[in-house]
This record gives sequence, C-alpha cells and structure tokens, in this order.
Amino acid sequence: MNNFIFENATRTFFGKGCVKEYLRCLLSRYGQNVMLAYGGGSIKRNGVYDEVASILKAGGKNIIEFSGIPSNPTYSKVLEGARLARENKVDVILAVGGGSVMDCCKAISLAAVYPGDIWENFWARTGIIDVSPLPLGVIVTVSGTGSEMNGGAVITNEEKRIKTGRDYPKLNPKFAMLDPTYTRSVPHKQLISGAFDTLSHIMETYFSEPDEENVSDDIAEALMRGVIRDMRAITANPEDDNARGNLMWAATMAENRVLKLGKKTDFEAHQIEHQLGAYTNCNHGFGLAVIHPAYYRHICPAGAQKFKRFALRVWQIEDHGQDDLTLARKGVEALADFIREIGLPTTLRELGMTDRSALKEIAGSCAIVPGSYKRMTHEEILEILNECF
Ligand code: NZQ
Ligand code: ZN
Repeated sequence: MNNFIFENATRTFFGKGCVKEYLRCLLSRYGQNVMLAYGGGSIKRNGVYDEVASILKAGGKNIIEFSGIPSNPTYSKVLEGARLARENKVDVILAVGGGSVMDCCKAISLAAVYPGDIWENFWARTGIIDVSPLPLGVIVTVSGTGSEMNGGAVITNEEKRIKTGRDYPKLNPKFAMLDPTYTRSVPHKQLISGAFDTLSHIMETYFSEPDEENVSDDIAEALMRGVIRDMRAITANPEDDNARGNLMWAATMAENRVLKLGKKTDFEAHQIEHQLGAYTNCNHGFGLAVIHPAYYRHICPAGAQKFKRFALRVWQIEDHGQDDLTLARKGVEALADFIREIGLPTTLRELGMTDRSALKEIAGSCAIVPGSYKRMTHEEILEILNECF
C-alpha cells in the first residue's frame, strides 16, 4: 500500500429516528440563522420538510429557505445561495437532499465567505482554502453519491459546459444524518441509479494500483458483493428496509476516503460521465451504467490480473484454468449482464440522445486521469462513446 494520512471530520449519525433524536442538539452549538436548503420539493411531499422544520422551530431557529436546487447543481445556483446566505447572515447551512443538494451547499458554504471567484480558484483548478467556510450539516434523503462524508462537490458551469468536482477536506460537513426511512419515497429507478453510483465509486477505486493484496481492496470486494446483493434484494422487494439501510451506508463507506487509502484510484469513467452530464444533463448513475462496461472492455487487457480477481471474488466466476484475460473479460461481462438484469440503461440512446453530433466535443472536453490502467486519449474516449451510443 502507498503511504497515507487519514482524517474524516464529519460526525455521522445512522439509523431510523436519528434526525429526531439528535438534530436539535447538534444545531444548538451554532447561531440562530439556519439556511434550510433542498431540491425540487420531494421533501415537502414525503414529510421530511415538516419534521425538520418543526425541530428547527422548537430550537428557536430562524429559517432561511433555499429551495429549487436542481440535479447536477449549477454554478449560478451556488452564487444565488451564497448571496442569500450573506444577506441573511446565515450561521449554519442545513442541506436536506441527495448529492446535488449537498454538493451545492458545500460550494455555497465557501462562496458565502470567499471574496473572489470560487469557480476560477477552486473548481477550474485545485486551490488552497484559507478561509473558514460556513458550517454545514447534511440530512441525506437519497443515497448513492457518498457526498455526506467527504468534501467533494461536483458543480456544473453551464456557460463553460464543464461539470467538475473537487474534494476539499475543509468542505466536509460538520455532521451527516442518515435515516434510511427518509429514502422510502425515492422512485425505484433513482434508488438503483444511486446504488450503481456507489458500485462505480468502489470499482473506480479498486481498479487502480497497487494490485498486490491490500486492505483497501479487501474492503472494496466485500462492499461490491454487498451492493450487488442489496440491489438485487431491493429490486425484488422495494419494501426491503434492511437492503435500503445497507445501500445507504455502503454509499457513505464508498466515498468517505477509507477505500482510497493507499490507492491511486482511476475515476476516468466519472470524468466521461461528468462531461456527458455537462452536455446532456443526464442522470449521474444512469450515465455511469452506460459508460462502465464499454470503458472496462478498453482497459481490461492492461489490468487483466485485477479484472480476473474481480471475476473470481466479486462475481464468483469459476476458474477452470482459462487464461487470465479470458477470466478478466468474464468479469466485465458479468458487470454488463448485471446492469441489464437490474434494469439500468445500457445505451446513450436510452439516456435520450438522438444523434452522435455532440460526442466529439464531449470526448474532447473530458479530463484524462493518471490512475487508469490504460491512459486514455480523447480519440479513445470518442470510440468508447460511439460504442455506448
Ligand atoms: O429535487 P428533489 O425534489 O428533492 O428530487 C430529487 C431528485 O429529483 C429526488 N429525491 C431526493 N430525495 C428523495 C427524492 N425523491 C423522493 N423521495 C426522496 N426522499 O432524487 C432525485 C435525484 O437527486 P440528486 O441529489 O440529484 O441525486 P444524487 O444523490 O444521485 O446526486 C447527483 C449529483 O451528485 C454528484 C453527481 O455528479 C450529481 O451532480 N456527485 C457527487 C459526488 C460527491 N460529492 O462526492 C460524487 C459522485 O460521483 C457524483 O459525481
Ligand atoms: Zn459518482
């Protein structure tokens, strides 16, 4: 394993009733003005808004509402939230939603106190945060991204047509609350999209050096088997709260930096999906489901040993003495079969794309990561996108 230092500053609460039990006490250490941020209104329909608002009122807080955060949050929405926070002297931000709401609020927590342009200084390139962002607490209502326990925020700059994420430890939420029952109202398609995002995060970390036996990969294999099992369980029985809770915690585990310890990490599939999202606004997990098998067919020969291990240990494919590459390819095809079995999209057409005209520009705008088994070129990404079409 490579050297590492581990720290995670987010205090995490998991389980049914955790918001009711702990939120008031957690907020008592901050000032009166709470920005209550959420998305398009699902929390108003499923009762979460009422529950949270009544806790805030009972604690004597002033609520500053910030609603309408879209999926794939935009930089303009970040600036709108930062203005509102400054005008109302917000003391703490409470993000109630999924990755989009949490990410938008992380960027707001910085933009509200930073005098310059946060896009140019922190998203277009990696910067050093030398101010104290507003404190942020999150209540997760749809799981998958793992944003609740990291400092990552993925923002879309519509003008520049770039969707990009950075992970700043200073943007880690102060606390994260995960009540699986809050996700009961999530539509099944979104639930499996989030779960696939989780699986993707684990794979993107697993398929990278070092490849000798190591603790991070051991945990990753166990988590992958669990996510696959629980995706099957919740698809067979949408009422399965045990699977729902497992998927929620697996999402957090996949992105709270534990799996990445000592690992290089890949995340090229994410780079491709982010640019696909910047051009088409597609659903994150669906985009990943389409891209992963095609991308892995390209890198599999260069990472054959690891893909073979994936086939044997994650998909329990039997080794009858086939050569490494044959087994490795079986692992990739098992993933592709699972995506079909679970009902995730498999082509860009299914994501609503009607022609290939944007593919070249999308491919050309993708960042190339150093951790892939095979360093991509923009031409090869275009081939991959064409295969996905
Ligand atoms: O907006 P509302 O009305 O709340 O509806 C949302 C939205 O339509 C709905 N939803 C949320 N909770 C619900 C619910 N519907 C019914 N009942 C509930 N309890 O779910 C829809 C999707 O929400 P969204 O937050 O957009 O989804 P997700 O959590 O998948 O987040 C996606 C964003 O996170 C970024 C993605 O790129 C994308 O922008 N990511 C963030 C990461 C991070 N910070 O670490 C890592 C990821 O790789 C990812 O890139
Ligand atoms: Zn993701």
